[in-house]
Amino acid sequence: MSILKLSDVSYRYTERTSVLDHLDADFECSKMYVILGPSGCGKTTLLSLIGGLDSPTEGKIHFKDQDIAACGLDKHRQNNISFIFQNYNLIDYMTPEENVLLTAKEQPLPVLKKLGLTKEESKRNILKLSGGQQQRVAIARALASQNQIILADEPTGNLDETTAKEITSIFKDTAHKYNRCVIIVSHSMKVAKEADIVYELKGGKLTQISIAPN
Ligand SMILES: Nc1ncnc2c1ncn2[C@@H]1O[C@H](COP(=O)(O)OP(=O)(O)OP(=O)(O)O)[C@@H](O)[C@H]1O
Ligand SMILES: [Mg+2]
Repeated sequence: MSILKLSDVSYRYTERTSVLDHLDADFECSKMYVILGPSGCGKTTLLSLIGGLDSPTEGKIHFKDQDIAACGLDKHRQNNISFIFQNYNLIDYMTPEENVLLTAKEQPLPVLKKLGLTKEESKRNILKLSGGQQQRVAIARALASQNQIILADEPTGNLDETTAKEITSIFKDTAHKYNRCVIIVSHSMKVAKEADIVYELKGGKLTQISIAPN
């Protein structure tokens, strides 16, 4: 069942610069999507529209058949969306436990444990964790918020190959085991190979593509 639907969505920063051009797409829970595309093609712009940080110039976005603009973008951001960024975006003077608690609807420690952090690591200062561990905390925060859509902008961009692989497989588990709709934008074919569905964003258009598995 579709949880998020883009209908005829276009976006222009100025009259002349069209970034997204009449896009239609459907996203479902329990699936991991990867949107591939070259730098500057509009991937972050697209995530910001889906996440209710900005509004399309034309077209509509529905979450569970409700127009997100009509329901209020602030409510959409608070109740439906979790963002994960390349640089983790955690509050660095807090511990993982405190970071997760900020938006949690459940106890943080068990969620952090599921994501592979020990109790000691969960109570350590964020800056004393590796990049991979910090990204696990960001995913734990998204999971504990219980919001159904997880949007990730180049979430493995700062990680080495092995850690990137681990984090990608955590995203996939998050979609499949916890019934979330995970949408990742990336340049990485390695991330795309793990996706259930791959879209390519090119020339303002979104097209579903198939990628040969490893
Ligand atoms: N505030 C803005 N005003 C005008 N143009 C902008 C603005 N933000 C982004 N753009 C332009 O819109 C286009 C798409 O930008 P966007 O950041 O969405 O690309 P991207 O696919 O995320 O790129 P990258 O892979 O490098 O992160 C780019 O040409 C960019 O210069
Ligand atoms: Mg970007």
